[in-house]
Amino acid sequence: MAYEIKTRTRRLRSSEAMRTLVRENEVRVTDLIYPMFVIEGENIKNPIASMPGIYQYSIDRMDEELDRVKQVGILSILLFGIPSHKDEQGSGAYNEQGITQRAVRHIKKKYPDLIVIADVCLCEYTSHGHCGLVSDGRILNDATIPLLCKMSVTLAQAGADVIAPSDMMDGRVGAIRNALDENGFTEIPVMSYSAKYASGYYSPFRDAAHSAPGFGDRKTYQMDPANSKEAVREILADVEEGADMIIVKPAMSYMDILKEAGQVCRLPIAAYNVSGEYAMVKAAAMHGWIDERRVVMENLISMKRAGANMIITYHAIDAAQWIAQSVL
Ligand code: PBG
Ligand code: ZN
Repeated sequence: MAYEIKTRTRRLRSSEAMRTLVRENEVRVTDLIYPMFVIEGENIKNPIASMPGIYQYSIDRMDEELDRVKQVGILSILLFGIPSHKDEQGSGAYNEQGITQRAVRHIKKKYPDLIVIADVCLCEYTSHGHCGLVSDGRILNDATIPLLCKMSVTLAQAGADVIAPSDMMDGRVGAIRNALDENGFTEIPVMSYSAKYASGYYSPFRDAAHSAPGFGDRKTYQMDPANSKEAVREILADVEEGADMIIVKPAMSYMDILKEAGQVCRLPIAAYNVSGEYAMVKAAAMHGWIDERRVVMENLISMKRAGANMIITYHAIDAAQWIAQSVL
C-alpha cells in the first residue's frame, strides 16, 4: 500500500456483538409513551383511516388495549378525550363528568400503576376547534388560562398522574402549577408541550380527535417551523414557570430542536412522534416500499440520539414487541 491507513473505524463494526458493545444509545420499552383516544358512547372501537392500527375507544372498550399496553411493559399513556358535545367555551374539558375525567377514573381504578398523562387543551371540546377561547376571530390568551387550570385540576382530581398542557398559550404552565398546588396536587408534575410547532403533521390526529380548527389556523399560538431561537425562549419560560418535563413536537423534522433542548435545560425531554409521521411510515410500509420495523426503530433511535429521554409514539406497542423479540 502506498500509504498507511491510521484510523480503522470498521474494527468496531466487525460483528453484531462488537457493534452492541460500543452502541451509544438504546430505545427501552420504558421510554415509550402510548397515546390513546377515548370517545363518548358504548361498545365503540373506531378505526382511524389515516392512522392504521390506531382506534378511538369508548371507556368500556379501553381495557383490551390497556391490557396490551401493560403486557408489553409500557409504563405510560397519553390520554385524549373526544366529547360528543362541543361548545364555544369547551365546557366539556373541565367538567368533572367529562369524557376524559371519567376515562381517567376508570383507568386508574383498573390499572393503578399505569402512569396516565392527561393532555390539557380545549381544541377537542370547542365548537370552533381552537385551543383557546375565541372573540372576534381572535384566540384569547389570558381568558383561556383559568379554563386550562380548571381542566388540569379536575383531571388531577380524577387521578391523572401527569398534566400535559398542549395549547401553547403564554403563561399557562405557571398558572396550572399554581392551581394544582392550591388544590393539594403539589406532587403532580407538569409535562409541558414547550416547543410545539404549527405543523402539517397533525392532520391525522385532528381526524382522530375531531379537533381541526373550524376557521383559520393555529399559527398565532403554535410556533413557526422556521424558528429555533424561539423554541429556546419557550423552553426557558416553561422552566421558569415550574415545568417538570418538556415536549418537543413534532419529532422527526425537529431533531435539531430536540438536541438544543437538551443543551439549554436539565429537565427530562419527550419527543412527540406525531400522527402525520406515523401515517407516512404506515403508508409506505403498507405499499411494501419500506421495512416498517426497521424504519420505525431507526426513527426512534434517532430521537434518543438527538436527546429525547422519552418518546410519545403511536408505534409504542409494536416497538415494544420488537424490542422484546430482538436477540443480540
Ligand atoms: C391538541 C393536540 C394536538 C396534538 C396533540 N395535542 C393537535 C393540534 O395541536 O392540532 C397532535 C398530536 C399528533 O399529531 O399526533 N392541541
Ligand atoms: Zn389544542
